[in-house]
Amino acid sequence: MSFKEKIDLKRLPLHIAVIMDGNGRWAKQRGKLRVFGHESGVIAVRETAEACAEIGVKFLTLYAFSTENWNRPKKEVDALMSLLVKSLNKETKTLMDNDIRLRAIGDLSQLDPQCRQQLQETIEVTSGNRRMDLNLALSYSARWEITEATRKIAELVKAGELLPENINQELFSSMLTTKNIPDPELLIRTSGENRISNFLLWQIAYSELYFTPVLWPDFRREHLYEAIYEFQHRERRFGKISEQINPRIK
Ligand code: FPP
Repeated sequence: MSFKEKIDLKRLPLHIAVIMDGNGRWAKQRGKLRVFGHESGVIAVRETAEACAEIGVKFLTLYAFSTENWNRPKKEVDALMSLLVKSLNKETKTLMDNDIRLRAIGDLSQLDPQCRQQLQETIEVTSGNRRMDLNLALSYSARWEITEATRKIAELVKAGELLPENINQELFSSMLTTKNIPDPELLIRTSGENRISNFLLWQIAYSELYFTPVLWPDFRREHLYEAIYEFQHRERRFGKISEQINPRIK
């Protein structure tokens, strides 16, 4: 029986976040340049987005480019940016066919104008789609986001528009790039690395973390279903004890 048949469609995570990792190693294993791994990773992006939309996941957030990725060799950064522009353009049809709305989180001001323009265009074209939100984290890092949120709060306090005693978790969440998006219930990282790498640090406080050795370009629907299956078999206690979560346990 495949994992797709085994998952309970009534208990899907509302929001899945993915750290897409292993493109470089995948290419190296084949004696190719790293960029070949990134290009092949686009297929996994399409498969994952389509599969999530099809089964009824409402939010999918993909870590496509971190703040730290700007430190990679210029050639690779340029190749990633042009791949992004090309893929957004080419995959707009996939997004429309699947009723997926594109959004982006991160310090988008750092992206080159061509990339920003293409991103804006795809966001506008898909803005009426409702089946699923696909959030691309671009030039994103959680520490950047948390610092920005803190600055915004400090400015409101300075302007006399907010009292320090009114700062709470809800207010802080509303200052993040993910405002209006529920926290991810499941975070997947591919390639066998067991790290978070500065991704959604605030939002994953209670997320289930799932690490798989599969390299991102090899990630397919069945790998996604397997991750969801495992998610559905974990006990999420949110600080409580088993008996409180499941009263039938004595
Ligand atoms: C990590 O692999 C992957 C990235 C830094 C880029 C991810 C980009 C894509 C999958 C393609 C474009 C995306 C979209 C949304 C169209 P790595 O290079 O760190 O791999 P390594 O750890 O094996 O070196």
